[in-house]
Amino acid sequence: MDTSMFGKDGWTPDRIGDLTGKTYVITGANTGAGFEATKVFLNKGAEVVMLNRSESKSKAAIAQLKEEYGNDVKASFFIMDLAELDSVRTAAQQVLENVPHIDALICNAAIAQVAKQQLTSAGFESQLGINHYGHFLLLNLLFDKVEAEGKRIVVVGSNGYKMGDKRLQLEDINFDKNYNPMNTYGHSKLAQMVFAYELQNRIQIAGKKTEIYVCHPGAARTTLGAEEGNLITRILFKVLAPLAQSAERGSWPEVMCATENNLKEKGYYGPTKRMDMSGPIGECKLEPFVLEREPAKKLWQMSEEATNCKWNF
Ligand SMILES: NC(=O)c1ccc[n+]([C@@H]2O[C@H](COP(=O)([O-])OP(=O)(O)OC[C@H]3O[C@@H](n4cnc5c(N)ncnc54)[C@H](OP(=O)(O)O)[C@@H]3O)[C@@H](O)[C@H]2O)c1
Repeated sequence: MDTSMFGKDGWTPDRIGDLTGKTYVITGANTGAGFEATKVFLNKGAEVVMLNRSESKSKAAIAQLKEEYGNDVKASFFIMDLAELDSVRTAAQQVLENVPHIDALICNAAIAQVAKQQLTSAGFESQLGINHYGHFLLLNLLFDKVEAEGKRIVVVGSNGYKMGDKRLQLEDINFDKNYNPMNTYGHSKLAQMVFAYELQNRIQIAGKKTEIYVCHPGAARTTLGAEEGNLITRILFKVLAPLAQSAERGSWPEVMCATENNLKEKGYYGPTKRMDMSGPIGECKLEPFVLEREPAKKLWQMSEEATNCKWNF
């Protein structure tokens, strides 16, 4: 609820200077908040590398950007399906081989409100698998590259993190017994956020330099949940759409976390009015259960086992 750090209008992209020479890597950037964030970065002279799951949607997004910014627009993509661990590994390798440096790696992609429990090919509940496990592996594979230049990681969370049981359901992480589209989505965002703050702790203990920031877009008019939600969810989203803010404004918190100086690592940034759904961008209240370390350590271990990766700190 604090916008004072940026004045009464909160943070806006006007605060960003020239980003020429900087490179931002964003997951799920062919549409929604990720696509709008891409445009803000391009407007400021930066280069953007998208990690998207659909080749046709990626090409359509690049075509749209070319129309807006010209044929030499500094935007490209690699295919990455966060639901498939091998796809994440391949995409990470392509980034390592082709992207000279990363100024911020933004974990933006997500699915939401999946109507009935679905499992990825590795057997993960789909929202946990894509939103948390996929990003967990991606960050493991790209961390050293980000760290080499002491840069940033941005994790896009959601206020959904506090709408379920307000704890990690580690004893039934796939929600086999109590699957519920909203709670299970919220739980996947909670897992992402718990992991992000635990990564901060471990970075600090290990004396590393990478900064991690966590944000949320509030309620933004994007395609989130449009395909995977049940009928009630889709009707609800249509009814609530006029109250939500634009996808462009929804992108500002992640752009801010990728570019702004003097943010608090244990902060949680996003719109600060109407129950943090819209309004000026600033610091929002973070519920303390997100920062508890014991469940975070267990989640970390389970995530390493699930994704067959090991962090070296
Ligand atoms: N919109 C809101 O009101 C709201 C509220 C709270 C939090 N958020 C968060 O904001 C972030 C951005 O969401 P958005 O609203 O912009 O949603 P969106 O318009 O649906 O965009 C989501 C992006 O993620 C991609 N994606 C989905 N599954 C993927 C996978 N398996 N592998 C790789 N990419 C995948 C989508 O690709 P396709 O186009 O191929 O599907 C799309 O590019 C998410 O983290 C979301 O949880 C949004």
